Amino acid sequence: MCGIVAYVGHRQASDVIIKGLKRLEYRGYDSAGIALLNGGLNVYKKKGKVSELEAFIKGENLNSTIGMGHTRWATHGEPNDENAHPHYSATKKLAIIHNGIIENYSSLKQDLLRKGHQFSSETDTEVFIHFIEDIKENEKCSLDEAVRLALTKVVGAYAIVVMSLEDPSLLIAARKGSPLVVGVGKAEFFMASDATPIIEYTNEVVYLNDQEIAIVNKGQLNIKNTANLPLTPYVQTVDMELEAIEKGGYEHFMLKEIFEQSRSIKDCMRGRLDSDSGRLILGGLREYINKLVNADRILIVACGTSWHAGLVAEYFFEEFCRIPVEVEYASEFRYRNPVIREGDVVIAISQSGETADTLAAIEMAKSKGAIIFGVCNVVGSSIPRTTHAGAYTHAGPEIGVASTKAFTAQLTVLNMIALIVAQKKGTITEQKFHELLVEMENIPAKVEKALKLNAQIQVIADEFKNAHNFIYLGRGYNFPVALEGALKLKEISYIHAEGYPAAEMKHGPIALIDEEMPVVFIATKDASYEKVVSNIQEVKARKGRVISIVTEGDVLIPKMSEFVIEVPSTMDALMPMISVIPLQLLSYHIAVMRGCNVDQPRNLAKSVTVE
Ligand code: G6P
Repeated sequence: MCGIVAYVGHRQASDVIIKGLKRLEYRGYDSAGIALLNGGLNVYKKKGKVSELEAFIKGENLNSTIGMGHTRWATHGEPNDENAHPHYSATKKLAIIHNGIIENYSSLKQDLLRKGHQFSSETDTEVFIHFIEDIKENEKCSLDEAVRLALTKVVGAYAIVVMSLEDPSLLIAARKGSPLVVGVGKAEFFMASDATPIIEYTNEVVYLNDQEIAIVNKGQLNIKNTANLPLTPYVQTVDMELEAIEKGGYEHFMLKEIFEQSRSIKDCMRGRLDSDSGRLILGGLREYINKLVNADRILIVACGTSWHAGLVAEYFFEEFCRIPVEVEYASEFRYRNPVIREGDVVIAISQSGETADTLAAIEMAKSKGAIIFGVCNVVGSSIPRTTHAGAYTHAGPEIGVASTKAFTAQLTVLNMIALIVAQKKGTITEQKFHELLVEMENIPAKVEKALKLNAQIQVIADEFKNAHNFIYLGRGYNFPVALEGALKLKEISYIHAEGYPAAEMKHGPIALIDEEMPVVFIATKDASYEKVVSNIQEVKARKGRVISIVTEGDVLIPKMSEFVIEVPSTMDALMPMISVIPLQLLSYHIAVMRGCNVDQPRNLAKSVTVE
C-alpha cells in the first residue's frame, strides 16, 4: 500500500518519478506528491491520481536531478492535499515519503507538541519526519544517524525515503515490513516499492531487508542496519521485461492479464512438469519436501484471492495426498493463538509476497516452530525471503488490482506441490498421477479456448450490468470458484455479490432470490453435477435468473438456464483453472459497462502492506 519512488543521478528527477509513480499506482491512488531540490526543497502534492499531480506541476520549473514521490492509500487521515506525501519537517529542511504505519505516532506527537511543534496534516508520517529532525538537532548528529536513531524508537511498519535541503546528493531509505528496492545504475540510483519503476533504467537491484538503511551519498551506496552495523549491498539482477509491465494494446491491465493466462500457466509449469518423462520437480521445495510428505496437517494462510486458491488446494491436497488441510485467513490466524503442533506445515500463498497479515501469520507460525512454504508471484518479495522453502508462480507482473492470472498460476503451483507429495506418499496411483500431469499440460490450450467466450460473455454482461446483487453458487472444487467470481464482481463493479456453496444456499441466501436476482451457477460435469442440477431447479422455482457455466456438450442444464457458458471439459480437480475464466471476464465487462475504473477500483490496493 502506497507506492514510493526516489531518484538521484543525472536525469530530470521529476520525469523518472512521475513515470515511476504511474507504475506504482496499483499500490494506492488517492493522492500523490513529489519533492524536488529545484532552488529549495519543494513539495508538490495533490489529492487524486498521479495524472492530477502531473497536471498540477505542469508549467513549474522542475529542474532537479534528485527527488522523490509518493502515491497514497490513506491510513491516517482522509485523502486530501495536506495528508498527501511528501511531508516536511518543522524547519522544512527535510522531507519524507512513507509506506506503512507508525503505531506509536500518537505518543511521539504529544512529546513533539509539548516542544512546540506544529503539524499541518493528520498523518503519522509528518510526526515521523519531525521526530527525525528533533533527534538530529538534539544529538547534533548526521541525518543518517538521526534516521537510524529514530528507527530504533518507532513501532510499526515502514518503507521510507528522506531527503534534505542541505545535501543535494543524499537520499536515505529504510524498511521494516514494507518493501523497498534500490536500483543501481551508472552514476544514478533509484529507490522504489518494487522494481517496476526501475527496470527501464537498470536491472541491477538491491532488495533491502527489514531494519536496513540505504544511504546514497555523492554517488555511493552504503547499507547498514538499525544496530549500526555496516553491510555489503547484495546486488541482484531482476529478470523482468519492460513490456511485461505495459498494457500491450489492451484497454486495461486486467484484461491483458486475463488473456495472458494460457501463457502464464505454461510459464509456471515450464521446466517443472513434463508428462512424457513423468517429471515433476519444484527446485525450491527439494530440501523440505519430506516435511510436507510427512505432515500431519497442512495449514494454508492467505488473504483475498490467494485465500480462494488455498481453498481449492484444500480439496486437491485432501483428495490426492490424504493430509488434512485447514485454510485460514491470515488476519484471523495471526491473532487467534492457533494450535500449531510438531508435524504441522504451513503454506503461505501471496501474489505480492508483501501482504502484511500473511507475513505476520508466517512469523507467528515460525516462532512456534512450524516449517513454512511460500507460493508467491513477486520474485524477491518479503514472503519468499521469510519462508523455509517455496515455489514462485512465475505469472509475471500482475498490475490490475483484481487478481486474475496470479490465481490460476497459484492453482498450478499448488497442484504441482500436491502431486509431488501424493506421489512420494503413495496416495495416488501412477496412472492417476500420469493422467493429471497430461491434463495439466492440456490446461493452457483449454484456457485459450475458454477465452474465446469473451464476446458471448460481453452480451451477458450487457444484460446484467445494472443488477444490484449477484449470487454465485458452486460445489466441490467449484465452490471456491464461486467465491472468487463474487469477489471479482464486488471488487471492480461495486455490485454486491455473494459466493456460496450451492447446497448451503437453502440455509439463507435462497431468501434473496426473486425475478431480479442473477444467480451464476458453476455447474460443470463433475462429482456434484446431479446435486447442482437440483440446486438450479430450486433457484428456478423461485424465478431467479440462472446463468450457468457448464461443460461443453451439456444438454440438461442449458434447458434450465437463461444464459449458458460452455467451457472445455477437464478433470474435476483442474476445473477451477478453467471455470474461473468466464467469471473474470464477466466481472471485467460489467465493470467496464458501468464506467468503473477496472484497474484501480475505489478503496482497494493491490498490495496490502498494512494490517
Ligand atoms: C489485496 C488485493 C487482492 C489480493 C489480496 C491478497 O486485497 O487487492 O487482489 O488477492 O490483497 O494479496 P496477495 O498479494 O497476498 O495475494
